[in-house]
Amino acid sequence: MRLLALIFLSLYISLPSYAEVTIIFSGEESGYLEPCGCTKEPLGGIAKRHSLLSLQGGPNKLLPISLGDLVGHVTRQNEIKMETMVESLRQMDYILHNIGEKDIHIGPEVLSYIFYSSPLELLSSNVLISSSYGLKVSPFVIKEIEEGGTKVKIGFLGILSPHLLEDNHKDIEIIPPSEALRPLVNQLKDRVDLLILLSHAPFEESLNLSSIFPEFQLIVSGHDVDHPIVRRSGNTTVVTCGTKGKHIGLYQPLHKPGGLEIFTLDDRYHESQEMLSLLQSYQQRLRDEDLLSKVERQAPPGDAAYAGNIICGTCHQAAFLHWKTTGHATAYETLVRVEHQYDPECISCHVTGLYYTTGFESIENTPLLKGVGCEACHGPGSLHKEQAIKGLKAEGYGKSTAGTCQTCHDLEHGPDFHFEGFWQKIIHPKEEVKG
Ligand code: HEC
Ligand code: HEC
Ligand code: HEC
Ligand code: HEC
Repeated sequence: MRLLALIFLSLYISLPSYAEVTIIFSGEESGYLEPCGCTKEPLGGIAKRHSLLSLQGGPNKLLPISLGDLVGHVTRQNEIKMETMVESLRQMDYILHNIGEKDIHIGPEVLSYIFYSSPLELLSSNVLISSSYGLKVSPFVIKEIEEGGTKVKIGFLGILSPHLLEDNHKDIEIIPPSEALRPLVNQLKDRVDLLILLSHAPFEESLNLSSIFPEFQLIVSGHDVDHPIVRRSGNTTVVTCGTKGKHIGLYQPLHKPGGLEIFTLDDRYHESQEMLSLLQSYQQRLRDEDLLSKVERQAPPGDAAYAGNIICGTCHQAAFLHWKTTGHATAYETLVRVEHQYDPECISCHVTGLYYTTGFESIENTPLLKGVGCEACHGPGSLHKEQAIKGLKAEGYGKSTAGTCQTCHDLEHGPDFHFEGFWQKIIHPKEEVKG
């Protein structure tokens, strides 16, 4: 009998394609549905994530879970984005979403509207939202999976660190995590084979929870940690896969104890057609709601208005003709090429003066302000034009420095930027200008 069992065991182990319970985790997308394409090596995005999941799926039984913080800010665009995110999670067969502080910022009304019709379970063991919103939040979720003829039960708990919420939200109560977890862990530990905590908290706080609750095999942590970290703490693995959905975690607890892997979503993963269609309809909604016309604008510095490149070109011909040959002149067309020209989050750096009155509004209303024009670097120039016509000196107009460039060439959208080299690539030809 023992011999038979041994043979059986060795057969069992030597079957590499054996279906594994595979927990996939992601979180803190903070609004990154897709990489923007501004850098050479764009990472992340739901379209690549989907193909990773398809590759890992196959014979494996996937349980994708989401840590929290789908979008970054509270705007109409982010509400649409959140709906798109939750729909993408549904299509990727996610089973649950843990509540993060940014999910709370978006408001219980929006959350209940979005999750009302979603099969995704909303999880939180310590966030209590007033029942008046009709939002169903589960303090724990148990999944039962059959593997190799045996049933495996996995219990998921989820917390949000109270330190991450600055304001008191009416209708929302946050219980200290260890206080909320203690009775639930006691209740679940003998009912399930595996306990997993989604800890929407700074990494140190999650480590601390791992020593209070050695019952957890895995703690998925996060909050503002850019890169993945994996730490063993007693019997518990504490892991974060970083922010913005660039990395996705995978955990196969049964056959490879501690079997944990983090994938970086780079060019090796193709973009899934289903997610690309979803992203396309997201762009269409931004267009249908004409969100570009609704961006908040302030008066530009000084009393000047934006004039448009062609006006500048009447006097600064050499600079104008040269500018037309640079990528700045066609930055709007770049967005048209990638079908993002109605996306306010993209267009601010690919046109001139979006956040100012008299700046770019739409291609129909302000065609002269498309692209990174003269005034994107020199500031609105109507007064300078009038003064130049009168033959007055251009006093103090138009100083442009490295800081000007870096409003757009920031770490996210131009990590290789350095002023000297970049300026030399687009420096204006010398010219004599007469008023
Ligand atoms: C009517 C002709 C005219 C127009 C239109 C005009 N400029 Fe000028 N600009 C001049 C002249 C002349 C000077 C040099 C004045 C001086 O010597 O101070 C000048 C100087 C400048 C300078 C250098 C300022 C400095 O500190 O020396 C910048 C930058 C500039 N213009 C940008 C622009 C931009 C951008 C536009 C379009 C919004 C524009 N100009 C439109 C005639 C014009
Ligand atoms: C309003 C936003 C904005 C500002 C300000 C800005 N850039 Fe750019 N820059 C862009 C965008 C967008 C692109 C990509 C254009 C494309 O190809 O679509 C770009 C591309 C470039 C390129 C590559 C284009 C080429 O023709 O090779 C260089 C070089 C560059 N910028 C230098 C600078 C420098 C130097 C400054 C400051 C003096 C600056 N930029 C200021 C947005 C900006
Ligand atoms: C904060 C400013 C900023 C925002 C916001 C921004 N971009 Fe860019 N984008 C840039 C800069 C700067 C470059 C040039 C980077 C470089 O060459 O170093 C660029 C380059 C690009 C390029 C490559 C152009 C080429 O062919 O070389 C694409 C495509 C692009 N952006 C698309 C987008 C999309 C889509 C969005 C919105 C999801 C977006 N951008 C949002 C600043 C921005
Ligand atoms: C990407 C940013 C950027 C854009 C776009 C840009 N400039 Fe400039 N410009 C600069 C910088 C940087 C300088 C050099 C520093 C300074 O003098 O402010 C400069 C200098 C100038 C000067 C001073 C004289 C000189 O040649 O040194 C003039 C005039 C000028 N630009 C006009 C224009 C006009 C006209 C356009 C549009 C056709 C334009 N610029 C587009 C960044 C830009």
